[in-house]
Amino acid sequence: MLPFTKKNIKFVSAIKKRIREDELTKLRVKHDLWYKAFEKQEGNKVWLDGKQYLMLSSNDYLGLGVDPRVREAARDALHIWGTSPTGSRFANGSRYYHQELEEQIADFLDQEACHVHSAGYLSCVASVSCFLGKGDVALVDKNVHSSLWEGLRLSMATIEKFAHNSLTSLEEELSFVFHDRKKLIVVEGVYSMEGHVCPLDKVVGLAQKYDCFLVLDDAHGFGVLGDRGHGTADFFGVEDSVDVICGSFSKSLASTGGFVAGDKELIDFLRTYSKQTIFSAAINPTQAAIASKALEIHQNEPEHLERLWQNTRRYHALLESLGLDFWESKTPAVPIVAGNKERAYFFSERLKEKGVYANLILPPGVPPGKELIRTAISASFNNEDMERIEEAVTYAAKALV
Ligand SMILES: Cc1ncc(COP(=O)(O)O)c(C=O)c1O
Repeated sequence: MLPFTKKNIKFVSAIKKRIREDELTKLRVKHDLWYKAFEKQEGNKVWLDGKQYLMLSSNDYLGLGVDPRVREAARDALHIWGTSPTGSRFANGSRYYHQELEEQIADFLDQEACHVHSAGYLSCVASVSCFLGKGDVALVDKNVHSSLWEGLRLSMATIEKFAHNSLTSLEEELSFVFHDRKKLIVVEGVYSMEGHVCPLDKVVGLAQKYDCFLVLDDAHGFGVLGDRGHGTADFFGVEDSVDVICGSFSKSLASTGGFVAGDKELIDFLRTYSKQTIFSAAINPTQAAIASKALEIHQNEPEHLERLWQNTRRYHALLESLGLDFWESKTPAVPIVAGNKERAYFFSERLKEKGVYANLILPPGVPPGKELIRTAISASFNNEDMERIEEAVTYAAKALV
């Protein structure tokens, strides 16, 4: 008799069959475009099959991932606190490093309180699912990140989409909602795929006019927008008028994890009800220490932000001179819109020939017709890096026509 192992079980359930036959997965595995395993990384360079590439898709906007002080802070935290609290803070209690990071983030954003999670995704899901309920109405920019859609779905609220960054469309939707329904608006500060900045001051005006709670996902505005890089609410001077600011440590702060910031009563409420907060293990010491040290450096050394914007202006000017469609990005998150998947693939392969790596974004990540190469500029790019990018993008653009 054969030993009873998974390999010799003949029965295949209907769900397993559906998974096995999924065409999209078969295509993805066949073409092997994503989930690349780089064999080495040093700063903003990665190695694949022995070849070095400059990474043009990372969100390390301020370039702090390469700072030795950040690495040292991670090592110290590991030494002091160990690897992980291995449980949720509801179950196992918080640690001082959680509270210190929360105070630091709240101060930076000019908010009363903050809660940190082990992923920005969790923070964003929590920021909408926790404050909304059945019977409420969520008014949502149609281009917001998947984490926010997930939170909206979990909340069971009615969802009304408005056209991307359109105040007219938002007001039209608002004017149709019955006055007695509780309303929440969800926007991003900087849209991650498009690099567009939300007209937040105007959104705040509408939120107040129509009595709405306002949630801002500032994953890509945090550390980037405003004179001192305090984010989108600071850029527009409306820190007092946004109810919740959520975001991620995996962009400007070169770590992983995320935060929800707002009034103390909102954060207390989140800690009482949010499933993502109660039932998920707390952020670990190294993640928190990296975020904390990176934020400290960002606050004390404005040169990183200056360099980021210098590089960004130089890159925008290049794309403009080449006649490339970069979706009118105004920020370091810069798509190169190719318009279909073949052109996007062709462009990214030409970049690779010249030693530059950037990821393809295809539907459903973007609407059909907007297939793109998602690039992002970093303060870690020196003049030589910028020249390499310029040469590669020029070569790819000329090959495309
Ligand atoms: C706008 C936005 N919100 C939330 C997230 C989730 O953050 P994280 O990847 O740190 O979990 C991301 C990351 O891709 C994002 O771009």
